[in-house]
Amino acid sequence: MAFYEGRTPQVHICDPELVKQILIRDYDYFSNRKQFNLGNPIANEILDFQPEVKWKYMRAVMTPLFAPSRIRHMAEILQSISEEHVDNLKSNFTPGSGPMKFEFRSYLGSLLTDVIGRCYLNITFNDRLDPNSHFLQLLKDLIREYSDYDIKHELIRSFPFLTWLHPIMPSKALSQFKVTLLNIIKARNASSPNKLNMGQGLHDLLSKLDNPDLKSLGMNENTGVALALEAFLATFDSVGNPLCFLAYFLAKNPPVQDKLLKEVDEIFERSSSENIFHDMRYLQACIQEMFRLIPPFFRLERECTKDWRNEEKGLTIKKGTVVIIPVWPLNRHPDHYENPEDFIPERFLNQDNSKNSTYAFATFGHGPKNCVGQKWSYEMSAIIMATFLKQFRFQLSNQGRADESHIKWKPGSSFILKFEPIVLEIVSRT
Ligand code: HEM
Repeated sequence: MAFYEGRTPQVHICDPELVKQILIRDYDYFSNRKQFNLGNPIANEILDFQPEVKWKYMRAVMTPLFAPSRIRHMAEILQSISEEHVDNLKSNFTPGSGPMKFEFRSYLGSLLTDVIGRCYLNITFNDRLDPNSHFLQLLKDLIREYSDYDIKHELIRSFPFLTWLHPIMPSKALSQFKVTLLNIIKARNASSPNKLNMGQGLHDLLSKLDNPDLKSLGMNENTGVALALEAFLATFDSVGNPLCFLAYFLAKNPPVQDKLLKEVDEIFERSSSENIFHDMRYLQACIQEMFRLIPPFFRLERECTKDWRNEEKGLTIKKGTVVIIPVWPLNRHPDHYENPEDFIPERFLNQDNSKNSTYAFATFGHGPKNCVGQKWSYEMSAIIMATFLKQFRFQLSNQGRADESHIKWKPGSSFILKFEPIVLEIVSRT
């Protein structure tokens, strides 16, 4: 399908074979995302929109921070963070009381802020259990958590020269973020030098900025700040939001939740080792199904940099055209998934029975520009969810307004899905 978005020609591709060809095999023709002015010097340094040579350098800073050994280390810290937050919630729960109204997103807000502090920066925020903590508010401001639909947001996608009307991220919050982050990096590094984590990675990058090669790439202090910004917001928003949907799907499908609770109980009983979450195959399948149904980034983009032709399909894409891969319809395509709209984790348990192609699932993208944090996102989701389900189960809210538990999408967001808070109930299991 072909469109114009403003003055830019677009082709939308939803065929897994072509998705593979564009994102991987013919990367040379489609290596860039469309350059996009985000309306602020920090936001404009975000990795995704950098030209190829600068992108390669920045990507090489990020990759080791999510290597398997780093993930193992962060997973250990995350497990203790998850236990601490669930214990704190439990302490507010009166024994023997019935179900409690619960908004998982705000619980996850504090928890994921703690992950950013302890796993990425090696610091513990003093107010980390406070739902109004300073850093948490800053993250919410950056993603405009409280803002309503604004048509200016859509206009700038089609007419990017209007970005000054409504920068994608608010400039005041970005400046505050930069000051806070640089202070943390300076202070943290003095107390625990040479420990590989994001704080250390950024410190190393910032200390090399006088290097003429880096200068010639246009790297500056904002480049480092933007790397942290993307990782923090992806953790806070892109991991936090899908977990709310998993809670919702479990509440809506009690037999699935029962099966999952059985697995969680059995495996926690059997072992308390670090790799326990990898044995939870049904939990992994539930997470995969949740990521299939609700991809937080609903479109991938690549710009065609030289004329391209696929003889077999008779398809030509001209230089300058933007290829969009619409993740939502791809992940729910009836040719690849039976009953595609339904939450059925079993489809990922027995791959032989499924018609899925690897490229009929694009929640994390594919190829050289895929998501750096993909493995860590699965790990985070499993640890946070299993630790929570050890203590609580979810159910739909049956008090108050009848539609209270249902998903209400917020319109008008450019890249990521936004929704109204999902209010569920939780019941203590012990
Ligand atoms: C559920 C959580 C997440 C989802 C669904 C997600 C999804 C994505 C998607 C769709 C892309 C673009 C891929 C493409 O164009 O092919 C991307 C890129 C990226 N993601 Fe994630 N992400 C998540 C979590 C994370 C986390 C936790 C981090 C880091 C802490 C992270 C860091 C990045 C970075 C740095 C890029 C840019 C990659 C590049 O251009 O080289 N993401 N992510």
